[in-house]
Amino acid sequence: MESLGQNNMAVKVAFIHDANKLSREEERHENVDENNSDRFAITQCIGETDTHLDALITRYAHTLTNYSLRNLGYPINQDFNYEALAPLLQFHLNNAGDPFLGSSFSLNSMKFEVSILDWFAKLWEIEKNEYWGYVTTGGTEGNLHGILVGREQLPDGILYTSEDSHYSIFKIARMYRMQCVKVASLISGEIDCVQLETSLLVNKDKSAIINLNIGTTLKGAIDDIDLVIKTLDKCGFTNDQFYIHCDGALCGIMLPFMKQALRISFKKPIGSVTISGHKFLGCPSPCGVLITRLKYINALSRDVDIIASRDATITGSRCGHSPVFLWYALKKKGLTGLENEVHNCIFKARYLLNQLRRAGIGAMLNEYSNIVVFERPLDDNFTRRWNLASNKNIAHVVVMKHVTIEMLDTFVCEFVQKRSVWYKDGQVQPLCIAKDVGSRNCACSIHKLSRNY
Ligand SMILES: Cc1ncc(COP(=O)(O)O)c(C=O)c1O
Repeated sequence: MESLGQNNMAVKVAFIHDANKLSREEERHENVDENNSDRFAITQCIGETDTHLDALITRYAHTLTNYSLRNLGYPINQDFNYEALAPLLQFHLNNAGDPFLGSSFSLNSMKFEVSILDWFAKLWEIEKNEYWGYVTTGGTEGNLHGILVGREQLPDGILYTSEDSHYSIFKIARMYRMQCVKVASLISGEIDCVQLETSLLVNKDKSAIINLNIGTTLKGAIDDIDLVIKTLDKCGFTNDQFYIHCDGALCGIMLPFMKQALRISFKKPIGSVTISGHKFLGCPSPCGVLITRLKYINALSRDVDIIASRDATITGSRCGHSPVFLWYALKKKGLTGLENEVHNCIFKARYLLNQLRRAGIGAMLNEYSNIVVFERPLDDNFTRRWNLASNKNIAHVVVMKHVTIEMLDTFVCEFVQKRSVWYKDGQVQPLCIAKDVGSRNCACSIHKLSRNY
């Protein structure tokens, strides 16, 4: 197990050097090869030799390394090294049950789990004896749990969330058969509190379960918790008539390290917060953290004899390696490391914004965000090559720790070259994206990208 890990790391490092030199032709072959899924087909199932399996895995690692060198559009941090944890891959680790009560299945990592939950509780300002939480499979499960807690508290509650919310929120509303009001967003992507107020007043007879985005998926916009609480108050909702869940998938762990940014704090009347562990923290497989108030948990817990624990989580068996990854990431980086990483990502995002704008490409960046939004490239091959995420007329780059200035320079340079082909050296005008990014950030023939940015 260990030697396979070291071997893969050596492959990764060597390949990072070589891949920069990969010609387009070589790259095309890599992709064709990778798309040939027959290589992985389990047809005869005869029991393969280790040599053959090692060769397949090594080739797969090459392809992944190649992809990861141009992975700009998705919020995963690829700059990690968890080799030190390789010895743990020899164990099945399963945290089924309540991390605070333990379980009769002793191959668990609940001690690690509780230590990281304590850390997040402190970060988001809730006392140890007042919170409950667990390590989830990711942001979606955190949302599933947080909104379930809200619904158990306020069974007749209407779910309010902005139109920029992650698709999981709308899916959850369907799964739980909750009435869901989609509230309009501002151009920044932030929930429009004027619209929220109107919707709350129309439904004043029902309690409100509000999902807030601490970093929207597309634009990294931060919903203003304080303004939402004021709006609820203004509309006559008392604290026992609303529940606020904060979906902080990417930015929930970044904001506390930005001095002027909005504070995520359980000193405010919020009910739950969740983040994804594979995003900013760079865990190698999907995971997340959910923190809520202990007083809410009894409503959805049941004692379970077979595991000698309490069932209060969404899934039964839970990955025991994830808490160890999270613990290792936090221990290794420390507060200073995390703060530096946040500032470094924001710095590089501002750099990218400036480079795009200098090249005459419409782009925007929210103040406390590492997500740069710009006009959608016209060629899907280019979008695929850089693993960009796009939506209608816009696309984005999420500037994570593994993204270097060199990667950004190469990206902008290729974008500019391609653009001159798509727009026939200026004879064709780029699409107007003013309604997505604001007129001062749009480079169409009418708005002409404000230069005094
Ligand atoms: C705002 C937001 N919430 C939830 C999620 C879902 O997180 P996960 O993919 O960890 O389930 C995402 C994913 O990008 C997101 O951006």
